[in-house]
Amino acid sequence: MQNSIGFIGGGHMTAAIVGGLKNNGYEQIMVSNRGQEKLATLVDRYGVTAARSNEELVSDCDIVILSVKPQILEAVLEPLKGPFIERKPLVISVAAGIRCASLRAWCGDDTSIVRSMPNTPSVIGEGVTGLFAFDGVSENQKSLVNGIFQAIGEIAWVENESDLDLVTALSGSGPAYFMLFVQSMIEAAVKRGMSASAAKTLALQTARGTAGMIAHSEKELPQMIEDMLLPGGTTEQAVAALRQHGVPSAIEAAVAAASERAAQLADELGA
Ligand SMILES: NC(=O)c1ccc[n+]([C@@H]2O[C@H](COP(=O)([O-])OP(=O)(O)OC[C@H]3O[C@@H](n4cnc5c(N)ncnc54)[C@H](OP(=O)(O)O)[C@@H]3O)[C@@H](O)[C@H]2O)c1
Repeated sequence: MQNSIGFIGGGHMTAAIVGGLKNNGYEQIMVSNRGQEKLATLVDRYGVTAARSNEELVSDCDIVILSVKPQILEAVLEPLKGPFIERKPLVISVAAGIRCASLRAWCGDDTSIVRSMPNTPSVIGEGVTGLFAFDGVSENQKSLVNGIFQAIGEIAWVENESDLDLVTALSGSGPAYFMLFVQSMIEAAVKRGMSASAAKTLALQTARGTAGMIAHSEKELPQMIEDMLLPGGTTEQAVAALRQHGVPSAIEAAVAAASERAAQLADELGA
């Protein structure tokens, strides 16, 4: 029998995960939301069950996914501690930056907790989710979590909770880095006279095709890059210009800035 999955919060991320779960044959899904409008849309589109309250959802579900904004999570959980302690569901938080110790303090000391950090391409089933299991989460519970997040893309478990700040910096904020890169390529071509639509097709499919090629290759990335650099060729000149203009160190600085900010936000939001 399938485990029942409940979402507290019926916004963007919940809609993305519910869409993926329905495509993968999950049936027992319940959602609670503050306003009725988004809840009604989820019921109409995906046939989820609307919970009458967060308390009802916690009491009814084997797995509870916390999907409200991090800033209000503590207040949302405060009246639910009793139902959590009684029902003992597996709790999966998608709330950015809320640490397991805070979640345990708010949901009860014995709660099994997994933190997840999905990213925005999840809305088209092409996301990637970083996952961390707190003490006491069983292998069986981890495989339930795998099933949920594989419905919206790939997954990667990290060993330390602090690695989630790096997940935020890599895949959480990462879509913006690639958008900036693709946009810069388009602008460079348009500046030199190409139509924006041709430039977009060329840049975008280059990004997509390269990602696929990296995924399928058995070679390591440094070797793949080296193989592209024929002496005296165009790519060699271009990559030399990218290095000269500091692109690799700019990317390192971006990852460092995002992970530091993620850790700061976690400190601000903690119990
Ligand atoms: N979007 C992303 O790409 C992304 C990526 C990684 C992690 N996350 C995390 O996912 C979580 C949700 O983000 P989101 O983008 O889906 O936000 P969102 O669209 O604003 O959804 C949050 C939902 O929570 C509902 N809500 C507020 N108070 C509630 C309460 N007391 N009980 C039940 N529901 C309540 C809101 O309802 P009303 O609108 O009706 O008030 C809203 O539908 C956040 O913690 C965020 O950090 C999001």
